[in-house]
Amino acid sequence: MSEFEAVILAAGSGTRMLSNQPKVMHEIAGKSMLSRVIDVAQQCRPGRIHVVVAPDQAPVLAPLMPDNCVLVVQDKPLGTASALATAINTIAGNPDLLVLCGDMPLLRATSLREMHASATAGADLVVLTATVADPKGYGRVIRDQAGNILRIVEDRDAQPEEAAISNINTGVYLASKTNFQRWLEKILPNNATGNELYLTDVVALAVADGRKVAAPTLADQTEALGVNNKVDLACAETEEQRRQARRLLDAGVTIMAPDRLTVRGDIGAATEEAVSFGTDCQIDVGAVLTGPLHCGDRVRIGAYSVLSNCRIEDDVTIEPFCHLTDCVIGRGAVVGPLARLREDTSLGEDVQVGNFVEISRSAVGDKTKIKHLTYLGDATFGSGCNVGAGTVTCNYDGMKKRPAKVGDGVFIGSNVALVAPIELEDEAYVAAGSTLTKNVGSKELAVGRTRQRNLNRWRPLSKRQPPDA
Ligand code: UD1
Ligand code: MG
Repeated sequence: MSEFEAVILAAGSGTRMLSNQPKVMHEIAGKSMLSRVIDVAQQCRPGRIHVVVAPDQAPVLAPLMPDNCVLVVQDKPLGTASALATAINTIAGNPDLLVLCGDMPLLRATSLREMHASATAGADLVVLTATVADPKGYGRVIRDQAGNILRIVEDRDAQPEEAAISNINTGVYLASKTNFQRWLEKILPNNATGNELYLTDVVALAVADGRKVAAPTLADQTEALGVNNKVDLACAETEEQRRQARRLLDAGVTIMAPDRLTVRGDIGAATEEAVSFGTDCQIDVGAVLTGPLHCGDRVRIGAYSVLSNCRIEDDVTIEPFCHLTDCVIGRGAVVGPLARLREDTSLGEDVQVGNFVEISRSAVGDKTKIKHLTYLGDATFGSGCNVGAGTVTCNYDGMKKRPAKVGDGVFIGSNVALVAPIELEDEAYVAAGSTLTKNVGSKELAVGRTRQRNLNRWRPLSKRQPPDA
């Protein structure tokens, strides 16, 4: 496609979403509907993309716009025809205009390219249609007996026999700017709303003009889904997740339950939200994966684990119910079940992190074991350490985060508090139950607890005589 500009209509009030957020900013698989429509338009390489928005949306959306996108403010939501007219007033020359709606997140660029072929085959106006199982809510496509499109009737204006038609308007149009202008000038609010100008009226006007109107039908009806309420939003999410799972399956990933997996990010694309897997990876039921996420070969992700912004090297096992954000997991490591790794954490090779372990802003060396009930924050651990159950770095003094530095081969017994800043040198040994406030030298044993006393002249409270009885 060449020499055309795109217009995305996104200024509707979106009242049916029952939300304070602009409708087109609602996300499908972690990306706003508007970004999705912009991406699809970009793949067709338009000169510019004009995004029509409401006045209050402009400040929010302006910083998110790619270079060749311009915002056009529609002062009042007076309908889709008024939205396009507002954009056209700002467009110079007479380019072809591809008009898209900001609320159709499942459309594919390939469909737009096929649609463009109709225009190059001599149509003055192309309207993309779809034949759907449930046409309720959409404009119906009225055709003559030969199948030529005559007009579009909106759901709320349709007679019962028109409402029964399953061929619908997707809200995607292509025509030259001057043709659109000519038809838009004639559109009146002759409809059930009383004040809205319907862009759909361009079809009947073009037909009345004796123009050639093409109305190709999408091969995949799921692309036509227009999101007007939260039910539509959930349907779009479900369909996009079906596509995401399919992309992973096509890339050779084993998925135990493809309909119980959520992937937010770009599979197989080198974007900032890229999601990629090596060979022989396996994802169990209920995982939620958000890009950027890279998994090497033979990675296993356990049931109900949530991962985002992680680099997982080969042969890692993430056991069920783990939450990993912003971390790097070294080759052969085992994490979980029920572990939380966050904020700039890196595990070396063959590290073992077990249940109820939280690690943040820390680096852990190869083969170190942290198997139960531990919090490590702002810590550096060497290799081959054993961290006992209940080890806690006391890294925050109420004002500042303080570091703990632990060398190689250090053994920390159970229930140990490391009051930071602190350093434990190589092969230090910490007795269980210690609270350490001082550094420990290499191979030293630190015992930081009061000596045990056993009292034999002792009686439990219940056995004592009550006073003044
Ligand atoms: C519209 C079409 C309908 C089609 C359906 C496909 C009209 C009159 N109807 O209905 O035939 O089947 O899309 O999903 O066009 N917008 C503006 N300014 C406005 C009003 C709307 O920019 O004043 C934008 C909205 O933000 C939205 C798009 O235009 O992205 C479509 O508007 P919406 O209200 O969703 O129309 P539908 O009822 O879905
Ligand atoms: Mg809509």
